[in-house]
Amino acid sequence: MAKTVKFTETILRDGQQSQIATRMPLSDMLPVLPALDAAGYEALEVWGGATFDSCLRFLNEDPWERLRTIRKHVKHTKLQMLLRGQNLLGYRNYPDDVVEEFVKKSVENGIDVIRIFDALNDVRNLTTSIRAAREAGGQVQAAICYTTSDVHTVEYFVDLAAQIEQLGADALCIKDMAGVLTPAVAFDLVSQIKARVDLPLELHTHSTAGIGQMTLLKAVEAGADIIDTCAAPLAEGTSQPCTESLAIALSELGYDTCLDLDQVELVSQHLAPVRDRFLADGILNPKVLAVEPKALLYKVPGGMLSNMINQLKEMGIENRYSEVLTEVPRVRADLGYPPLVTPLSQMVGTQAMMNVISGERYKIVPQEINDYVHGLYGRPPAPIDPEVQQDIIGDDEPVSCRPADLLEPALPRLREEIACYARSEEDVLSYALFPEQARDFLGRREDPFYDVPVQEVNVSIAV
Ligand code: CO
Repeated sequence: MAKTVKFTETILRDGQQSQIATRMPLSDMLPVLPALDAAGYEALEVWGGATFDSCLRFLNEDPWERLRTIRKHVKHTKLQMLLRGQNLLGYRNYPDDVVEEFVKKSVENGIDVIRIFDALNDVRNLTTSIRAAREAGGQVQAAICYTTSDVHTVEYFVDLAAQIEQLGADALCIKDMAGVLTPAVAFDLVSQIKARVDLPLELHTHSTAGIGQMTLLKAVEAGADIIDTCAAPLAEGTSQPCTESLAIALSELGYDTCLDLDQVELVSQHLAPVRDRFLADGILNPKVLAVEPKALLYKVPGGMLSNMINQLKEMGIENRYSEVLTEVPRVRADLGYPPLVTPLSQMVGTQAMMNVISGERYKIVPQEINDYVHGLYGRPPAPIDPEVQQDIIGDDEPVSCRPADLLEPALPRLREEIACYARSEEDVLSYALFPEQARDFLGRREDPFYDVPVQEVNVSIAV
């Protein structure tokens, strides 16, 4: 009997986030929802990540309304979202009451599967959102952030997977946000996790370094149950490997993909001109489609490399790039090998640049790094170098509790602050997550004289 491998389609979330800065409006999605629903996907990733912020900030769309509308048209297939644990959709910790309410409302408005991760893989930062998702009747897919370092061995990740199983997750995901998981390691990692943990396992990678399809193939051979792929118009490059190509290749290899490729083809036929429109507008930069093997050579995500080059260029000191590149792994080791995922990748990159430019290591330290060393992001994968810790925070005692334990409940205050514009608890949550963007969005909606226009600034952070 053919072995089954299922597909999760990312074009409405990570695919468009990776290639077109999450700028696809609901109107482009509506015509393809029936085909997406009929295609036989395990799930459609449609919400979370940067979609929420982008709706409010750039598209003048209510993210909750988008979710409800997609739910109305997708009747058979599970809808999936991405959540940064205690950070929800942002980059700081929220109090438990906000996390619980946000997760509950996400499920109520149509989400079936919540993929939950923490940038440091500190499982304490996952507990509240996992519990809330289960209580709301959602399925919990807990994700491990994959990264490479001296401490991030296959054994480390297998132990982490076993810990996560104990938290009550329904499924596991290996989340290779930087596209640095190689086919050989993927095979090893998936085989060993499957041998130890009895949960469905999904693999998420990016094609940035040009090996995404091979990595997925080896993961499937090792027993991965589900893979994340993106339909052709926004596939490959910084996005996921292509749905259609993988489905054809895997079915020839004897796998049952459960996909109806005629339906996927309908999706791609409709979205190809949408992609062309973003290309013509300059929002889709063809550079995102280029292969970036440097990510594998330097073990640093491609996006982080290009950010550092741009910053050094702006300062007129591009010639110091190789020094900074050497400094990045040193800073990372000093700080206990944080995974290079947003916001830690930016933090480590900035510290490395400051160390090089100032001529003295840790002479200048950004507030975020100071907070990190104080333990406010969570527990680093390995201990922070004691001398570096002394340099940065002196004799201060880092917190040892779960960081969100230090936060007071915030919903009553937030409800009051936005009472003038909020019509629902969902509106309050939009405000809790993105105060300025939500206030402007709700203000434009409620008050004809509200005079802050929709922003048009190019920012994108792919995860
Ligand atoms: Co991703």
